[in-house]
Amino acid sequence: MTAEIIDGKKIAAQVKSAAAQKAVMYRQLYGRQIGLAVILVGSDPASEIYVRNKKIACEQCNIAAFEYNLPAETSQDEIIELIEKINADKNIDGLLVQLPLPKNIDEKAVLSHVSPQKDVDGFHAVNAGNLVLGNDCLAACTPSGIMRLIDSTGVDITGKHAVVVGRSNIVGKPAALMLLKRNATVTVCHSKTKELTRYTSDADVLVAAIGKKEFFTGDMIKPGAIVIDVGMNRENGKLYGDVHFPSAVQVASYITPVPGGVGPMTVAMLIENTVKAAYRAK
Ligand code: GUN
Repeated sequence: MTAEIIDGKKIAAQVKSAAAQKAVMYRQLYGRQIGLAVILVGSDPASEIYVRNKKIACEQCNIAAFEYNLPAETSQDEIIELIEKINADKNIDGLLVQLPLPKNIDEKAVLSHVSPQKDVDGFHAVNAGNLVLGNDCLAACTPSGIMRLIDSTGVDITGKHAVVVGRSNIVGKPAALMLLKRNATVTVCHSKTKELTRYTSDADVLVAAIGKKEFFTGDMIKPGAIVIDVGMNRENGKLYGDVHFPSAVQVASYITPVPGGVGPMTVAMLIENTVKAAYRAK
């Protein structure tokens, strides 16, 4: 079997196009553009690329981007002060703090100050908690994008075994909750899991989010599985997934490429969340 490749770029373009239309409508209804604030502390090269891509997406979608580039030496109190200022700004609907923050900053403490209503990353405890409860919320962008990619296959995952490898707050945990909400039987594996292949080779849906270049090879994948590769491993300027694509594509039924799979979806879902936050606030 050769898998069908899920085109994340195409699906992301559709999500952004729908959001862009809603953003135009918002301006007509309320007399101002939807606004997204992005805080970047320091000059991590990967973060700079992500922030640039988010800004470009805003421009494409009729959303005003407010960029705050702070030096690496900025204190935690100064970052929190800026967050509070943005929370109170009526022209800004969404706020994200690009991660990782410099090592001397307590990330959790900083993120707890983002207004849950503007938390377009879905990282605040209120939004994460509502996701656990199955309530409407601003949900984390990458797992939301993963679900759209799975939806695009048209495969009903009810009762299917979904295996998420990786347990981060940003991807693994929220992805597991979203799959559970769709009635999949969910297993979460992580760095301490014993006999990982036992789980991956039983997965009807495999979400690979461990940050190890080409770790999941075809022999670890169940024939006919849907394989979602969340890996973004940069080596000598080239991007590699967590899945060894050439062998996995021979076994899976659907597979996401890297680049061009999950990556573009994260930005698209951020835009969708920003539009959602703006309309919710009305
Ligand atoms: N760093 C890596 N992924 C993300 C993300 O989804 N949001 C933010 N704010 N920072 C990140």
